[in-house]
Amino acid sequence: MHYSTLIQGLLGHNIFQMTANLSIASPQAKTDVLVCLVAGSVPYATRDSPNWTALSTSFNLRLQYNPAVITIPETENQVSKSITCAAAAGLNVQPKGGGHSYASHSTGGQHGSLIIDMEKFSEISVNQTTFIAKIGAGQRLGNVAEALYEQGRRALPHGTCPGAGVAGHALHGGYGYASRKWGLALDHIIALDVVLANGSLVHTTNSTYADVFWAMKGAGESFGVATYLYFQTMQAPDSVVYFVSDLAAQMHSTSTSDAVDILARGFELLQEFSLTSPLLTPNITFGIHVDSDGTFFLHGWCMDCNAAVFASTVLPEMVAGYPGHVDSVTGLSWIQALTELADPGPLEQPLGSRYTFHDTFHVKSLATNDDISLSTVVIKAYFAEVLANQGKGPFFSIINIYGGPGSAINTISANSSHTQAVALFG
Ligand SMILES: Cc1cc2nc3c(=O)[nH]c(=O)nc-3n(C[C@H](O)[C@H](O)[C@H](O)COP(=O)(O)OP(=O)(O)OC[C@H]3O[C@@H](n4cnc5c(N)ncnc54)[C@H](O)[C@@H]3O)c2cc1C
Ligand SMILES: *[C@@H]1O[C@H](CO)[C@@H](O)[C@H](O)[C@H]1NC(C)=O
Ligand SMILES: *[C@@H]1O[C@H](CO)[C@@H](O)[C@H](O)[C@H]1NC(C)=O
Ligand SMILES: *[C@@H]1O[C@H](CO)[C@@H](O)[C@H](O)[C@H]1NC(C)=O
Ligand SMILES: *[C@@H]1O[C@H](CO)[C@@H](O)[C@H](O)[C@H]1NC(C)=O
Ligand SMILES: *[C@@H]1O[C@H](CO)[C@@H](O)[C@H](O)[C@H]1NC(C)=O
Ligand SMILES: *[C@@H]1O[C@H](CO)[C@@H](O)[C@H](O)[C@H]1NC(C)=O
Ligand SMILES: *[C@@H]1O[C@H](CO)[C@@H](O)[C@H](O)[C@H]1NC(C)=O
Repeated sequence: MHYSTLIQGLLGHNIFQMTANLSIASPQAKTDVLVCLVAGSVPYATRDSPNWTALSTSFNLRLQYNPAVITIPETENQVSKSITCAAAAGLNVQPKGGGHSYASHSTGGQHGSLIIDMEKFSEISVNQTTFIAKIGAGQRLGNVAEALYEQGRRALPHGTCPGAGVAGHALHGGYGYASRKWGLALDHIIALDVVLANGSLVHTTNSTYADVFWAMKGAGESFGVATYLYFQTMQAPDSVVYFVSDLAAQMHSTSTSDAVDILARGFELLQEFSLTSPLLTPNITFGIHVDSDGTFFLHGWCMDCNAAVFASTVLPEMVAGYPGHVDSVTGLSWIQALTELADPGPLEQPLGSRYTFHDTFHVKSLATNDDISLSTVVIKAYFAEVLANQGKGPFFSIINIYGGPGSAINTISANSSHTQAVALFG
């Protein structure tokens, strides 16, 4: 379930701890770092700068930290200077991509850090021979999807939120509705340009600086700052069948204990479907969404599928345990499907501090293993908790059911950092 975000939550931690651990930068450290940045011609902002609030406010307003200084480098040399100046002054360093870190790690995760805002790294170019995309670490998922499609109908698996940054997302996993077929965004990274803690820029692949390359995928900020990410893109599907099945009927129609039994039984059948049904081909990815306002639905998509066949044969099997389900199955283009799921939309989103959407939230993620499916007791406890808290909140819960035979998420090399990261926390 959403383990990419689990990895983000656990590993998205500042690492340049070889420098001093000052949760609040001393005045001397601030003076030293500014002198160094000026000498290195690195653009930066401090508390007195006109754009400070926009630059320093974290996406999650619940966790707000005050950086000592925010650099806005335009070149890799300026990224390098940002790091070496911080190290010399004894400040912690943290890169910021799209800023969507649940725990506000990209504003430091504590006060007094030097933040490297990567918004000026915005290139998205697809080589028309290799279809390898070079993408700047300041880009956001919606812009990436549009630009890849415009350059030869290319695509990547990634999350639905168009404002999430490609760097934080892909370096920590990156799950979305193409993932049972194509894996995680991380699985498509074939190279990374990285500025290391000593300020050197290296081009890393599975054969050059292979250790750095391996470690960056899953724990990026612990080893360096990625400036450009290189992805092997995929041919976008000609069409996508988007499906939603409203399952809420059983939440309200019976006593709470009956409702818990029915909802849990329906989920058990869905879990069974995901682990054993030959109808579940890798081009289908799906999950459920339930919230404190009585909303409960299953949704997902099937790439290059026939909508009528899907509606009459596959979807009924998925929701067989939910009497009264109300289905909607729509044939869309790739871009239409991404737009449908984009929340808040549109796909195109402003970079860096020009992005003004914020939220206030607390999130936890859990991942389970195909080998140990959720028991009846656990599933009932889950739905009992959801039902007991209707009208309280607001909260929502998502279960991405991405396992089962043929899932590209589960069938990658046992030595990849993807698998190693999951093994650590799974
Ligand atoms: C509304 C919302 C929806 C989401 N939807 C999904 C989803 O559908 N699927 C999914 O898998 N995840 C999803 N996520 C989780 C999201 O993928 C992660 O929070 C991700 O880390 C965000 O990346 P970012 O660049 O925006 O974040 P940032 O906050 O900028 O960075 C996150 C972490 O990555 C580090 N980092 C950023 N840039 C670099 C770099 N250039 N080099 C090294 N380290 C870097 C930061 O220091 C920080 O520790 C969602 C999050 C939110 C808030
Ligand atoms: C850094 O300092 C903070 C605040 O004193 C502390 O909570 C944190 O554990 C320290 N981190 C390390 C790695 O020492
Ligand atoms: C923020 O302001 C600083 C100087 O005040 C400037 O160097 C920088 O380019 C600005 N950044 C953005 C993103 O506007
Ligand atoms: C595309 O990649 C090929 C193979 O690596 C390379 O020869 C070519 O120069 C690249 N094209 C561009 C425009 O960079
Ligand atoms: C290394 O990467 C190349 C190209 O990205 C790929 O073809 C090759 O299979 C990879 N090798 C290993 C051992 O993963
Ligand atoms: C930084 O570290 C890398 C990797 O160990 C090394 O190749 C490079 O020479 C170092 N750069 C400097 C300036 O020491
Ligand atoms: C996608 O899945 C359907 C069944 O759901 C299958 O019939 C079809 O062949 C698959 N298409 C591709 C391109 O894999
Ligand atoms: C995985 O790593 C182990 C230990 O380093 C090695 O022996 C094995 O050959 C590797 N397997 C693959 C598929 O790369």
